[in-house]
Amino acid sequence: MSMQGQNLPDYQNPDGDYRHIFSYHPMNVQIARAEGVYIYDDKDNRYFDASGGPFAVNLPHNHPRMKAAIADQLDKYAYAHPVLADPLRAKFCKKLAEITPGNLDHIYLVSGGSEAVETAFKVARQAQISRGNPDKYKIVSVHDSYHGMTLATLGASGSPGSHKPFMPMIPKWPHIRQYSDFDRPAEVSREEWGVECAKALETAIHYEGAQSVAAFLATPHGCGADYAVVPPASYWQTIREICDRYDVLLITDEVVTGFGRTGEWFAMDHYDVVPDIMTLAKGIASSYIPFGAVAVSAEINAPFEAGETHFIHGFTNGGHPLGCAAGAELIDIIRDENLLENCRKQSEVLFSYREKLLAHPTVRDVRGWGLMMVLELIKDKQTLEFFDPALQAEKLYSAITLKHGLVMYGSLYGPRRQAAFRRGIPSWLSPPLTITTDEMHDMVGRLDSALTEWESIVL
Ligand SMILES: Cc1ncc(COP(=O)(O)O)c(C=O)c1O
Repeated sequence: MSMQGQNLPDYQNPDGDYRHIFSYHPMNVQIARAEGVYIYDDKDNRYFDASGGPFAVNLPHNHPRMKAAIADQLDKYAYAHPVLADPLRAKFCKKLAEITPGNLDHIYLVSGGSEAVETAFKVARQAQISRGNPDKYKIVSVHDSYHGMTLATLGASGSPGSHKPFMPMIPKWPHIRQYSDFDRPAEVSREEWGVECAKALETAIHYEGAQSVAAFLATPHGCGADYAVVPPASYWQTIREICDRYDVLLITDEVVTGFGRTGEWFAMDHYDVVPDIMTLAKGIASSYIPFGAVAVSAEINAPFEAGETHFIHGFTNGGHPLGCAAGAELIDIIRDENLLENCRKQSEVLFSYREKLLAHPTVRDVRGWGLMMVLELIKDKQTLEFFDPALQAEKLYSAITLKHGLVMYGSLYGPRRQAAFRRGIPSWLSPPLTITTDEMHDMVGRLDSALTEWESIVL
């Protein structure tokens, strides 16, 4: 059965002239305003911002303090070049340094996640040169990961499909397997498997030559087909040991997981592992303003600080004053409103639905941490048979969830990944950290009903 005749929101057919804008798949729902955990359309229909776009909304919409902080700064000045000492930039970086793990106290400001990751590569490269390792330039990352849309970050991202058109423009760096629960032998514990999966880094360093590897880059949780798989502590502890053994810097990409998403300020706080470099964006200003940062350890930053080498950096809008205003206020709001605690509390409510969701015939897995849950949807949980492409199951899922009042981030990755991984469609839930228990029950209840309706069509 197709989407025709299902009385669902139109796909790719919004009212108005959308021909001049590149967009993935706009629906015929025109956004008018947003408030709290909700988005409203121009007919005043209310939808949960269930995934906050791609995990980008940590605070509620229309937060009075965020608006006031940005507006106050706008009243003073919107922009000034960083050659002028800007107390607001200093204030933001100090606040950020207070919450970053270990001695990740030196902050480089950018305006988004891709810029943050690209800047981290440059920090790693220049730091290696100044440590007397001029041949260390490769960044090892994991298959199926995503770290951004610039050429270098696409190169580090592990999807060969997105490399292809740009070769030979993007760097051909090594990729290794990530931690996965799905190929763990039954007799092996998660802790043991964590060590085993991490050893893939040592193997890659061996084949590439330790003298050529500058850094290892990964998100704290799994990506792609394994999105939101949470590795055991042994994985990250072994990765840290291997990095130290071979003088390879550890870059953790906390663009998605930072600022309370997992119930701690940063996901690596769960592991007691301190990276050398950490990339931040999205939740850093809850996407009120495009903003991002790279936190660098004191050791790595030392040659830059001492003036032994000049770090090549400087985006026109990196560390924009409105971003600094938003970011500084956001840290205070998370503290004042106890949002790390609320995230942990609401995470329990969210994951209390795990068994109920798993009872659906299409829900193969429910995983994640904090207020980040991923459902993996597949036609047949036993045989791992995927939906017939003619059904357009993913588009139908987005349309039906929308009909049930949920704006969900649509990955459209399922069919592309299916052949290689025999895995399902990842469906993301990541509401603002302020969500209440009643809102959570309402949101997951709607998801449950949406799944039932979707299954009545696609199965
Ligand atoms: C882990 C991770 N790193 C980096 C990026 C790139 O961030 P941006 O889209 O802000 O450039 C993303 C975006 O989804 C991401 O998920």
